[in-house]
This record gives sequence, structure tokens and C-alpha cells, in this order.
Amino acid sequence: MKRAKVRVVNITKRFGDLVAVNDVSFEVYEGEIFTLLGPSGCGKTTTLRVISGLEKPDSGKVYIGDSDVTALPPQLRNVCLVFQEYAVFPHMSVYDNIAFGLKVRKVPKEELSKRVRELAEVLELTDRLNTKASKLGISEQQRIALARCMAVEPEVLLLDEPLTFADAKVREKMRRELKKIQRELGATMIYVTHDQLEAMMLSDRIAVMNRGRLLQVGSPIEIYDNPQNLFVARFIGSPTINTIEGTLVEERGRFLIKRDEVVVDVSEFMSSYHDVESLLGKDIVIGIRPEDVYLDVKGPIEGVAEVIEVSGERLAIHVKISKELVLKALVPVHEAVAEREKVRLSFNLEKLHVFDKVTEEKVALRRVKQ
Ligand SMILES: Nc1ncnc2c1ncn2[C@@H]1O[C@H](COP(=O)(O)OP(=O)(O)O)[C@@H](O)[C@H]1O
Ligand SMILES: [Mg+2]
Repeated sequence: MKRAKVRVVNITKRFGDLVAVNDVSFEVYEGEIFTLLGPSGCGKTTTLRVISGLEKPDSGKVYIGDSDVTALPPQLRNVCLVFQEYAVFPHMSVYDNIAFGLKVRKVPKEELSKRVRELAEVLELTDRLNTKASKLGISEQQRIALARCMAVEPEVLLLDEPLTFADAKVREKMRRELKKIQRELGATMIYVTHDQLEAMMLSDRIAVMNRGRLLQVGSPIEIYDNPQNLFVARFIGSPTINTIEGTLVEERGRFLIKRDEVVVDVSEFMSSYHDVESLLGKDIVIGIRPEDVYLDVKGPIEGVAEVIEVSGERLAIHVKISKELVLKALVPVHEAVAEREKVRLSFNLEKLHVFDKVTEEKVALRRVKQ
């Protein structure tokens, strides 16, 4: 399969007064799965349509390979877009569905047949080639749509929430299949989803969007471990990251985050950084993932276990610290506590994130050499 890198440079797209895509830039490497992730309405589909050529940006450029394709119509871009409501032709056979684009391009019959069969093999549709598409289930229809798309050998595959209409179990299976197929064919793939778990499992790299803006690009692990922005921190991860808003103060040589009656001692964390003084008196938000909060009889934070949920092989204990603050701790099952039990918590301070309350950006602190 041919494949190409894609570069999007300062794309802006407006619909009337609405800025659907706001100065977005990113580069997709050859042969990777790159996912646009963000809540509904954040501009994912519009970005994908700009790359495909179906939508003309108000400003900015799109490159496929080394060519500037910004002015090219979709059919000259060598990309293929599978929509959310992917359409197969219901009364055509699977074979004719896959062959459709090749017939349009007048590919000789022998070559056409060879290509259809090869793709059917990869997508496990070989024994369905003569079946009418309408007779098949959603997973098969999805694979037909993919095969039809791949048959014309696009340099880039664009997939817009292709698993939306499948139920959870089918989605999981198809996600795995999709990755397998992509790896086999080596295609460059840009995938759109609002589902952070799907993005984490499928992608080589993820671009997180919100309100038309691109907030962060990175591998799933980078984005999870090192969110550059409060929105990203909250959007990725389940159960969601704990956040504590407050003002950083220094009292008797200790650094405390205070809000109303909630006081969190972060001295140990802050003492490993320079520039802490610059944060004193500022409103900040600290973020800590539930797996980095643990039960500790000597811990500095006291609360009451309110709700206990099973989360995979662990328990998510919701600990009420004050009227307005509940912290989640993800603990091994054998550390179970009773509901209403008083508990104390500690943080793995290595994993604490500090965000500016106003800009929501991560505060860059310089680490003290140890
Ligand atoms: N053709 C259009 N005309 C007017 N507004 C649109 C059009 N397409 C998208 N929008 C708006 O642009 C924003 C981004 O939409 P979209 O790219 O579809 O988001 P997403 O795919 O992330 O859900 C939304 O507010 C949406 O309502
Ligand atoms: Mg969309």
C-alpha cells in the first residue's frame, strides 16, 4: 500500500461566526495511526473534511507527502474518507461493493478481481463475496466500507468515528481488527473519535482538541502521564483525574494548598522544584490520578469513604474530604475499606501536576537537581 505523511498548517475554518477549527497545525507520520480526539462539536470532522478536500479552509495549508494539496479537489488527493454513517450499497454483493471504485477507474478486470480478493482476504470477507451487503451485520458492513476505501489504494485513510453504531463488544473486536489491518497494510491512518479509551488503545499518537483548538499531541502514554493542560488531564483517563483548586501559601516553612477548610500539604512536592515562590498566592489547580492516591494511615489528608466502585481489578474509593471536595483513590481489592469508614490518604507526589487556574496550562517548574 502506498502511504504518505500529512501536514496540516495553521488551518482555520469558520461557519458564519463560529470558528469550527481554530489555527490547527499537526503532522502525521507515514504509516501511523493518528487520532483526533475531543468532545462532540470540537472540530474533528471539520478537520478531517479539510484534509480530504470536502471542506475548503478559510486559511492554512494541507500537505500530503510533500505536495501542497490545499487547492486540489477531493478526487485528486489520493485520500479516502470513511464516514460515521459509512454507506455500503445494500443490494450489491460484497464483491461489487469492494470493486466499485476500481470499476469507476476502469481498472482491467483481471487486476480488479485480484485486488478485490486480496482485500477480502485481509478483511476476512472472502466467504461473503457473493452475499448481498444488506444481509450482513454491522461489523462486516464496516469492513466492506474499509475494503472499498482501500481498494483504490489511497495514500491516507481518514476514518470518522467508524465504530459509533456498533455495541461495546463489537467495537472492541473491530478496534483490534482495524489496528491489525492497518499494520498489515502499513497505511497512514487518521482516525476520529470522542472516546478517549478507544483513542488510547488504537493510536500511535493522539491530538486532543477542544473548541476548535488543538491542545496537545503525543503518544497515549505521554498524554496520560504528562498532560500539558487541565482539559487534556480531565479528558483522558478513567476514573478521571482528581483536581484540587486552591491557593498556594507558605506557612511555617510548609507549602500548603488551601481552599476553605481544605488544606493539602504539598511541601514535599514543591521542595523538589525551583520557582515555587512565583506560585505563592496564586490560584492553582493540582491534578493527581486516582492510581497515584493511596490509603495511608499516616497520610496527611483525612476523609470518609463514601462510594466504593469496582474498577477492573481495583477498587475506586471516593473519599469525601470536605463539602466540595471528593478524591478518588484506586486501590488493590485487598485494601478494601467499608463505606462511611474514616480513612487517610497520601499522594505519590512524583505524579502531581500543577495547572494555572486562569490559563489552565500546566505550570512549568524547574526540577531541583538531586
Ligand atoms: N456545515 C456546517 N455549517 C455550520 N456549522 C457547522 C457545519 N459543520 C460543522 N459545524 C459546526 O462546527 C463545529 C465543529 O463541528 P464538527 O467538526 O462536526 O465537530 P466534531 O466532529 O468534533 O463533533 C460544531 O459547532 C458544528 O455545529
Ligand atoms: Mg464529528
